[in-house]
Amino acid sequence: MKPWDGRFSEVTHDLVERFTASIHIDKRLYLYDIIGSIAHAEMLEKQGLISEEEKRKIVKALEEIKEEIEGGVFNFSEKLEDIHMHIEARLVEKIGEPGRKLHTGRSRNDQVSLDTRLFLRHELKQVEEELLELMRCIIRKAETEKDAIMPGFTHLQKAQIVPFSHYILSYYFMFKRDRERLKNALRAVDAMPLGSGALAGSTLPLDREYLRERLGFSRITENSMDTVSDRDFILDTLYAFSMIMIHLSRLCEDLIIFSSDEFSFFKLPERLLTGSSIMPHKRNPDVLELIRGKTSRVIGDLLSLLILFKGLSSTYNRDLQEDKEALFHALDITKASLSIMVLCIKEMQLNRKGMEDAIQSSYIEATEIAEYLVAKGMPFRDAHKTVGRMVKECERRGIKLKDLKIEELKSFCQLFEEDIYELMDPYKIITMRKTTGGASFREVEIQIEREKAYLDS
Ligand code: ARG
Repeated sequence: MKPWDGRFSEVTHDLVERFTASIHIDKRLYLYDIIGSIAHAEMLEKQGLISEEEKRKIVKALEEIKEEIEGGVFNFSEKLEDIHMHIEARLVEKIGEPGRKLHTGRSRNDQVSLDTRLFLRHELKQVEEELLELMRCIIRKAETEKDAIMPGFTHLQKAQIVPFSHYILSYYFMFKRDRERLKNALRAVDAMPLGSGALAGSTLPLDREYLRERLGFSRITENSMDTVSDRDFILDTLYAFSMIMIHLSRLCEDLIIFSSDEFSFFKLPERLLTGSSIMPHKRNPDVLELIRGKTSRVIGDLLSLLILFKGLSSTYNRDLQEDKEALFHALDITKASLSIMVLCIKEMQLNRKGMEDAIQSSYIEATEIAEYLVAKGMPFRDAHKTVGRMVKECERRGIKLKDLKIEELKSFCQLFEEDIYELMDPYKIITMRKTTGGASFREVEIQIEREKAYLDS
């Protein structure tokens, strides 16, 4: 039995049934399909399209179907294509005639949009919670390791000294922007599509405003033809997920590099690492590599849907059924990756000595020395050249900048005084930084306080 049996004289080919079925994927929407159907039935009754008695039977049976699915006794079959047809067929099986009235004024086209929106409204909040947990962990880490210092890198070359807290907060601010992206996606999701029908609405007196209120949306969608093929809210979601993954992936890349023996700035506990099947000495950061690897698949999900949409003719086309696999896949990876990163940040340990050694074995204070000369009146370009010559000389002699005696320094530039040696102290450099948002302990402290308040609000 198919809903379209009246028009068709032939039964569907087995291969077509299998090919068009999406139940193995969209059964995940069952709860939202039921919630949407209950609201729809209540609206139909309010509008006099079904009786009170019929509505009661429908609602009761839908609640039982929910129990059946959750209890694992519901029978899924490819013959019924998708979750919407499964639930409706079971409803009719259970209560007969009233069940056949449920689809009044509704199409699967607006129904699937509603289900996905309800699903995402729930899931986006879950992802946001996990993201907030990660942001809290970063703030806590920054706070407990407030006085640790490390080299900051550009081009993966030691560049300038920074507090570790400033470094790790740089990721916090990426995730904070991701939170805004999640909220944007949630705003796109938050529109009630039911009542759009197949593409043109209905001649029946449906009350869309009632449905909006009843289902807790802040607005109704505005154009029925747009509504049935609008998946912008899914793309906005996938973009937000892709950006979260990209930021996680960059953090993973850092953690992999900085926890290698070559750097040994950070260390992850063994319970977060994996071993090698052949090399007895290995401890590998596989979880970090997997987040980096899975990022490509989430970006792939976004791209596959962008491509899916580009050539679609107006309103619903069955291509749209492919949206859910990409969405669910990206969602699962993003959630799992966030919780793994929460663990990694919580449990990573700093090797302060490793970080300080890396600072000592470099000319990382060169920029601040050039600024010292600028503060004494030298044009920056000249200061740059002068300190460049000093570094070249030190490199030739195999010494550090702080090994240069005051007379030697003066031979490079008369502006050098004894106070220059203060600048050879990495902590001093950090405390001397003045810019808002710069790599100083003072700025980090201000930001930690401000962001704690933001996270608590
Ligand atoms: N399973 C379909 C989907 O996910 C539901 C909508 C079917 N609509 C249709 N006109 N065949 O898109």
